[in-house]
Amino acid sequence: MQPLQFGLVGAGGNNVGDRRGLSHARHLAALDAGQIVAVCDIVAEAAESAAAQLGATPYTDFEQFLRHGLDVVILATPDNFHAQQAALALEAGVAVISEVPATTTVEDGRRLVQAFRKSGGFYMLLENYGYRDEIELIRRLVQAGKFGEVYFGEGEYLHDCRGLNRFPDGSLTWRGRQFSTYVYIWHSLRPLLYILADRPTRVSAMTTMQPGRLEAEINIPDNVVSLIQTAAGRLLKIRVDIVSPRPHLMDYYAIQGTRGAFEGMRGFGDPPRIWLEELEPADRPGKSGPSVHWRALAEFEQEYIPDRVAARADAARTGHGGSDYWTMKAFVDAFRRGAPSPVDLYRALDCSLPGPLALESARQGGAPVEIPDPRTFA
Ligand SMILES: NC(=O)c1ccc[n+]([C@@H]2O[C@H](COP(=O)([O-])OP(=O)(O)OC[C@H]3O[C@@H](n4cnc5c(N)ncnc54)[C@H](O)[C@@H]3O)[C@@H](O)[C@H]2O)c1
Repeated sequence: MQPLQFGLVGAGGNNVGDRRGLSHARHLAALDAGQIVAVCDIVAEAAESAAAQLGATPYTDFEQFLRHGLDVVILATPDNFHAQQAALALEAGVAVISEVPATTTVEDGRRLVQAFRKSGGFYMLLENYGYRDEIELIRRLVQAGKFGEVYFGEGEYLHDCRGLNRFPDGSLTWRGRQFSTYVYIWHSLRPLLYILADRPTRVSAMTTMQPGRLEAEINIPDNVVSLIQTAAGRLLKIRVDIVSPRPHLMDYYAIQGTRGAFEGMRGFGDPPRIWLEELEPADRPGKSGPSVHWRALAEFEQEYIPDRVAARADAARTGHGGSDYWTMKAFVDAFRRGAPSPVDLYRALDCSLPGPLALESARQGGAPVEIPDPRTFA
């Protein structure tokens, strides 16, 4: 099979950011999927240094870069550029795989949908937390009916990002400038929507933000708790905090159904667990106290995600608990087969649009804000 020719936008290298774009070279290598043959960055030295490392051609002009002869563009630029650059790439006939989020505003999302429809191209959001083993396992258990009817879900993304907000001279990075304009909700929301095959319809959010309490001059909300209603009538509760001092907990999830419950890892060394009514003894006296049988989620892996268990050594070669491997594999498998995108533009917007809209709700004291269905965008 012909190796795919990838172009990377957003090389990183400012010593403060994550250099997320370059990490995708490692994910592609783990899958033997193709090469990054062109790198574009507005900072010439960043493009040149990454291109030299990868044996690729450097660019500073995005439109020139799009004419390199690429199959796929990887977008790893600051969040607010994703929608606009995705639209330009699709219009140029190049497939897009984009870092989170798909957009930071509803308007940019609408324009991206228009460009996507006009181009008939391929788009995938590289939201990786939804590709964690634990999420795939819960999804398959839900599909098998083990939880009964699931009506509540929960997610938390607690990540002290203060070290990413400023350059050493104190000036703001793109995160320092942008994180006050939306809630970083996608890594909590997309996995829940994936597990439940649902989409969000309304958000009501409140925040404890007090400008200056934790970071001078930046109005990044500390805790934001969003309540999201879904099309199927479920309620999702999502807490995001990207400034408070504390150890990270970026991947807490929980669900509640009529016949079972799932509680993710909450602290160091605390295993995810599930409770399933069907596994309880018939004479079980109650659902609390010593008679409750929480079971380690890991007990269900061999039966429900044998494919994941068998490929753990391969997945471990990438980041984020192996989820980066499964994200890129999902893309490569679908793209090569000409199959639909595993996280298509509409699903990408389902988890991205609530970001700015949750903050809009919080600014209005928690008033519910409608989340448009991107499938209906004119
Ligand atoms: N999914 C994940 O787990 C994960 C992890 C980290 C970062 N990310 C996402 O990856 C993206 C990149 O984050 P990062 O930490 O690598 O950032 P970074 O600051 O390290 O790198 C961004 C690069 O983009 C370049 N750039 C800025 N504007 C540009 C433009 N208009 N055109 C071309 N290049 C431009 C910058 O010069 C910089 O080199 C962000 O969207 C972030 O949210 C995702």
